[in-house]
Amino acid sequence: MESLSKLSGISLVLLFLLSCSTFASREDSDTPNPNGNVTIKWDVLTWTPDGYVAVATIFNFQRYRQIQAPGWTLGWTWAKKEVIWNMMGGQTTEQGDCSRFKGNIPHSCKKDPTVVDLLPGTPYNQQIANCCKGGVLSSWFKDPANALSAFQVMVGDAGTTNKTVRLPRNFTFKAPGHGYICGPAKIVKPTKFITPDKRRVTQALMTWKVTCTYSRFLAQKTPS
Ligand SMILES: *[C@@H]1O[C@H](CO)[C@@H](O)[C@H](O)[C@H]1NC(C)=O
Ligand SMILES: *[C@@H]1O[C@H](CO)[C@@H](O)[C@H](O)[C@H]1NC(C)=O
Ligand SMILES: *[C@@H]1O[C@H](CO)[C@@H](O)[C@H](O)[C@H]1NC(C)=O
Repeated sequence: MESLSKLSGISLVLLFLLSCSTFASREDSDTPNPNGNVTIKWDVLTWTPDGYVAVATIFNFQRYRQIQAPGWTLGWTWAKKEVIWNMMGGQTTEQGDCSRFKGNIPHSCKKDPTVVDLLPGTPYNQQIANCCKGGVLSSWFKDPANALSAFQVMVGDAGTTNKTVRLPRNFTFKAPGHGYICGPAKIVKPTKFITPDKRRVTQALMTWKVTCTYSRFLAQKTPS
């Protein structure tokens, strides 16, 4: 009798652990989340002699969650020895060790850079469209015009064709009080851009996307 109740106690614990793990794995996978997601899209606009120029755009496709001050932070790990020569509309929080460079010093040499938005009032020559909101984003469903953020990076020591470029890895997206889990970057159809007069369509040379979803588990570990 006693061993029976012990057994059912153990199976209860097992059941609990099992349900936790299915919950976690459901959060990890990139099945569409009913509450939406945060999508980060990189559009390569030009190849350069040692890399490329890309615009990264962050879309807050979440139904209810806004990204509040002091705003989002986006991180990733470079696949090789890539550096960021310069940035517009955003900045890395640390430059890292650029001692292998002489003369022109990159904006960031970190293997795992962390990027934040610039503040409103940034000089025009450092801005790009949709930048400089201090990382604050509303929800796409409430106010699409204010639900996206963009910055431009000039990447060096990188691939210079769509065959040799290495996608950044291990993306992290953080917002005050929120934790997110990001999937891997995936190559998608190149974005098409319509000129303001709507008379011409241009397209990115290459586009990749990362999807991040809200994680209740990580949120508990992130101080608000
Ligand atoms: C992310 O949200 C957008 C907008 O609702 C949706 O089109 C897309 O399929 C979602 N992506 C994933 C991987 O759930
Ligand atoms: C990046 O993610 C890969 C799996 O995709 C993992 O093996 C690796 O340890 C991660 N690297 C870092 C620096 O977190
Ligand atoms: C890479 O570029 C070639 C043309 O140079 C194009 O045919 C191909 O679709 C591109 N691949 C990707 C993944 O963009």
